[in-house]
Amino acid sequence: MTTISRRAFIEMAVAVGASAAWGSPIALPSSVPWRERRDLYPEGVASADPHYDSALFWTRRAPAATPSAEKLTIEVAEDEPFHRVITTAETPISAASDWTCRVLVGGLRPSRVYWYRFTDAEGFGSRIGRTITAPADDDTTPIAFAFISCQNANDGAQNAYRRMIFEDQRAEEKDRVGFVLHLGDFIYELVWYPEDRPQGMYDRRIRDLVRYEHGEKIDDFHIPTTVDDYRAVYRAYLHDPDLQDARARWPFVNMWDNHEFSWLGWQGLQKFDGKTRPAQTRKVAAMQAFFEYQPARMAKPSGVSLERFDPPKVVDAAITRFDEHGLGQEPNNLTAIHSLKGYRTLRWGRNVDLIVTDQRSYRSEEPTDRAEARVFSSPDFPEFFPQEAMEILDAGRAYNGGKPPESIRYGDQQVPNFSKNDPPQTILGWEQKAWFLEQLRASKATWKIWGNTTGTLDFRADPQNLPAGLTKPWPGAGYAGFGGGDHGSAYVERAEIYDFVRQHGITGFATVAGDRHSFWAGLAAKSLPPAPFEPVGIAFVTGSISAPGLVEAFEHKFPKDHPLRALFVGQAPNDTRPQPTVNLLLRRGVRSCLEYAKTGDIAKAGALTNPDLSPHLSFIDMGGHGYTVVRANSDTFEFVCIPRPIERSEREDGGPLAYRVKHSARIWKSGEAPKLTMQVLEGDPRFSI
Ligand SMILES: [Fe+2]
Repeated sequence: MTTISRRAFIEMAVAVGASAAWGSPIALPSSVPWRERRDLYPEGVASADPHYDSALFWTRRAPAATPSAEKLTIEVAEDEPFHRVITTAETPISAASDWTCRVLVGGLRPSRVYWYRFTDAEGFGSRIGRTITAPADDDTTPIAFAFISCQNANDGAQNAYRRMIFEDQRAEEKDRVGFVLHLGDFIYELVWYPEDRPQGMYDRRIRDLVRYEHGEKIDDFHIPTTVDDYRAVYRAYLHDPDLQDARARWPFVNMWDNHEFSWLGWQGLQKFDGKTRPAQTRKVAAMQAFFEYQPARMAKPSGVSLERFDPPKVVDAAITRFDEHGLGQEPNNLTAIHSLKGYRTLRWGRNVDLIVTDQRSYRSEEPTDRAEARVFSSPDFPEFFPQEAMEILDAGRAYNGGKPPESIRYGDQQVPNFSKNDPPQTILGWEQKAWFLEQLRASKATWKIWGNTTGTLDFRADPQNLPAGLTKPWPGAGYAGFGGGDHGSAYVERAEIYDFVRQHGITGFATVAGDRHSFWAGLAAKSLPPAPFEPVGIAFVTGSISAPGLVEAFEHKFPKDHPLRALFVGQAPNDTRPQPTVNLLLRRGVRSCLEYAKTGDIAKAGALTNPDLSPHLSFIDMGGHGYTVVRANSDTFEFVCIPRPIERSEREDGGPLAYRVKHSARIWKSGEAPKLTMQVLEGDPRFSI
């Protein structure tokens, strides 16, 4: 193990904007008169980004009516009663960081559980948190972790956390989760007030979660415009008891997705009602609130302060010039997107290198979301977008060896190829991608785990196989995607990454993702039939903690008399309610869906599977919520799915399970194709397998 010098350690703390403290080799009983006062620390405590010898610790001491505390004392101990304290240090708090603090504590020992707490000058203390350090770099100790995403406290309950805690408390020590990877949508910045939607949202009621002081109302919802607004929504989320207990129980590895900034945001831009507008000030505000509320080892070039974000000054200026990678060159845009660098690698011994990337700050414009692309969407074929058009628009000027077509045929129309002069779509951006590939190449860990907040598995259906007469003929040339936005349709960039994996003989390449509000398990391949299908890794997407998924949306919004309803929320003659047949659509194809709707016989439906549709998928549930536990020694990925979290469960276990499914992959040799096997441990996910 390499040991880190005290000086290098302090430099590391400066780089991530945290106070630095050092663990002592001699443990002593606490000398701090701590009395727990959770009301003074209403957002709880957190720890984050553990290394084998250090971790970040966080709390917020709310300002009081009496003079507010200016500093807190953190204690880190080897035992829960704090009889063996190894660190006692002070950390400042102030209005400039909204009364939050971040302390990087070094001198910790590998693979250890530690307890921590904060106390003010009066002796009023936070709740006690627990953290776990990573194994030493050369250690082969197994590591388990959970990955999660998409919690919406405006319209859902965080029962999944309660289930995670319940199971972890009862697990054997060796099986316990070592950290939680949160892949974003920790908050939803887009908020409804209850009066905006008295009808609720799908199956849910709207909670009176937060009121933005400076918010902007768009359509029937509200968005934050200032750092105070963003801070307010983090605070509101952290008042959830289940989320707060989870943050106190495990170290988190946090990465933003879109909603930490803006729903359809990319770089320093927002998009509402089909219009893109500059939002550099909001991007910086979002980054500042993230920095203050989500402890993480993220570089903060905006200032040298240990305690504060020190936001760079920007203005909202039109972004008109983009470089050859689609990066907006407007100076305020560059300043805003570089105000917090989120991508980073964390190591857990020999088993896991976790490479976490940012899919929102550097990406180019999503071509299928442009106004000119609307012609490819039709109410006759809801959700469907012709795959050949997605491929042409994604590749831009690089299509067909640099000879893109002038137009794209769609039924009897010739649609102008509006991206023929554009660079191929990038989601990572040039600089981050170069970094990412180097991380993959250099990793010596058994598992190179890509924490990509957004999904990478293809999302497609086979409307070309619809029987004649059911509806109009499908105007596309073959398969249909579901529109773009992630590496499931950033074909050129994904191929570049997967070709790199193959060329460098990289094994153990596994992607974990969120964003799609659905559970997916499958193989990472750059193309699907009729193109060659050559997997180079395994890939997963976890269901949302609580945000509504596509099945719930279809149940409420899909027209009852639509000729293709059976493909999305089909209902067989004996069913009392619609079923998630969209899972069959993506995994087996249109013929399976139609057979199910006719007979209600899932085996007969399965017999009509189109084998070329999705050889990359072994499981899909567009309606699942919950979390996924990865065990890096037994090489399993376990989906724990709960029923739709409409209201908070008062049960100790967070409520019942819907299903538990285990996917296993033996580590493969260089040049071998990875394989997944699946085992249903509980429940009956019959539309998903
Ligand atoms: Fe989400």
